[in-house]
Amino acid sequence: MKRIIVAIDGHSGCGKSTIAKQLAGYAGYRYIDTGAMYRAVALYAMEHGLDTEEQIISALPDIRIVFQRTDDGSQHTLLNGQDVEARIRTLEVGNRASQVSPIRQVRQFLVEQQQAMGQDKGIVMDGRDIGTVVFPDAELKLFVTATPEVRAQRRYDELTAKGEHPCYEDVLADVLDRDYRDTHRQESPLRQAADAVVVDNSNMTREQQAEYIFRLFDDRIR
Ligand code: DC
Repeated sequence: MKRIIVAIDGHSGCGKSTIAKQLAGYAGYRYIDTGAMYRAVALYAMEHGLDTEEQIISALPDIRIVFQRTDDGSQHTLLNGQDVEARIRTLEVGNRASQVSPIRQVRQFLVEQQQAMGQDKGIVMDGRDIGTVVFPDAELKLFVTATPEVRAQRRYDELTAKGEHPCYEDVLADVLDRDYRDTHRQESPLRQAADAVVVDNSNMTREQQAEYIFRLFDDRIR
């Protein structure tokens, strides 16, 4: 059986990371959440009062992001040795991440690290530009999507479960706003790779989705 690279792209809040984790578990592969890396850069910028592009670019050599597996099997993002997993998941950091992610030097800085992580294959990576820029030769590419309303409801439920008190209309506006920014930016805009399989999970259960994706994976490793 071949070891392959699985590239998963798609809109914000469409469940990419759920799919990626399910598949990584099934395949026994490493999972990399590239959104967490953009979020970590955003958090660093917020904590150090870096407002301009120039300030953020010159701070890049001081930013070290690694992923650590915890005892319960989940993965935590470490920023300069500090566990920032919970802190990078807020709406505020998400918004800031979508402002720092269009910066070309930020993307170069993170893309190089992502490519190095895939050197030995056996990896499932999710993001916005994985199948188009990071691993254009990935053996399996998925483009995951769901309607904005379904995605907003999921994000709302996630934030509520974490003890935040969001307003659904704000979350929906945020989803639409982020979609627009992700698809219209100049640097590596979110788009579907020509050879990606589209997975619209608006009306799929997790189980149906998992079954469908595992089958695609099994076909590709033969
Ligand atoms: O998937 P997420 O919401 O955690 O991503 C946070 C932000 O980072 C989002 O605005 C898109 C951006 N991002 C990106 O530009 N490229 C990636 N490969 C991953 C995320």
